[in-house]
Amino acid sequence: MGTYILGIESSCDDTSAAVVSGDGLLCSNVIASQSVHEQYGGVVPELASRAHQQNIVPVVDAALRQAGIDASELSAIAFTRGPGLLGSLLVGTSFAKGLSLALRIPIIEVNHLHAHVLAHFIKQSPDDEVPEYPFLTLLISGGNSQLILVRNYNDMQILGATIDDAAGEAFDKCAKVMGLPYPGGPHIDRLAATGDPLRFHFARPRIPGLDYSFSGLKTSFLYTVRDALRQDSDFIEKNRADLAASLQHTIIDILMRKLDLAVKQTGVSTVAIGGGVSANSGVRDAVSDYCRVHGLKAFIPKRVFTTDNAAMVAIAGYFKYLDGEFCRYDSTPFARVHV
Ligand code: KG4
Repeated sequence: MGTYILGIESSCDDTSAAVVSGDGLLCSNVIASQSVHEQYGGVVPELASRAHQQNIVPVVDAALRQAGIDASELSAIAFTRGPGLLGSLLVGTSFAKGLSLALRIPIIEVNHLHAHVLAHFIKQSPDDEVPEYPFLTLLISGGNSQLILVRNYNDMQILGATIDDAAGEAFDKCAKVMGLPYPGGPHIDRLAATGDPLRFHFARPRIPGLDYSFSGLKTSFLYTVRDALRQDSDFIEKNRADLAASLQHTIIDILMRKLDLAVKQTGVSTVAIGGGVSANSGVRDAVSDYCRVHGLKAFIPKRVFTTDNAAMVAIAGYFKYLDGEFCRYDSTPFARVHV
């Protein structure tokens, strides 16, 4: 019988299940997103937990069917232990424990941030290229902005992190100021394509080392728009694309300056990006261009693997499975970053 690892992801508002086979190939990846949060302008934790409860059984069932296997063929179950929303994590964790007891197979806990980093090892075909260790990852999402030196699948060092807001929050909160729906990042991305990135100037942080800060930019954006609206109530309407392009340009500039510093300090030859914000067209182009100019290898994830997905949990679990790194049944979810 072959090896099959089931991955389960339920850290925020996506319920996802995926199967990876013994040769490390992805057999299925099913994601149920929750539209219920759109009307509230952000994820409502209580509603997210309830939606996970509704989705988890059909999502796991679909992942097994798409992989063409029966649950009895599974070798182990990997689940996201944290960080994330506690109520959401409890659903995936409890489900993983229950299924593993029923099937008498081990469980593997996975750190959600490690899984984002390891998304580059998801192989949909045997020829897919994966990064060589050590490499540098810029992990940018709605909750985190980190520069991570990855020496191995289980040896990651955070070199820098945001001291306040994450890059995704900067996108989303500024988008909200412009009256765009949640999450605003993809809307800013679309609008920015036709705008002038140098039209407006927003504050950039001046903090030493490899840490990030985005709260000053957010305030600067808010004040610029507020002051302009006093002169012209149609200001946002008339300047949507330029505001989006200038905001995106500033966020990318902040991200790239520290990435450049980290590359110089570590001397790595490979750079990867991950997390929801790595879906941004401007970020993807900036990192690709930077790597080309500096003779570095760039790993830019497929868009489906930038946001929360279980394929990355399954591949992270697969590496732990190969090393026999299973967890106990009293393993409990954790909400905060915990590396
Ligand atoms: O990793 P992720 O799915 O989960 C959280 O950590 O919450 O990241 C979600 C974040 C949101 O802030 C969203 O606006 C942002 O990723 N995002 C983008 C784009 N697509 C998603 N930001 C900018 N441009 C995009 N195309």
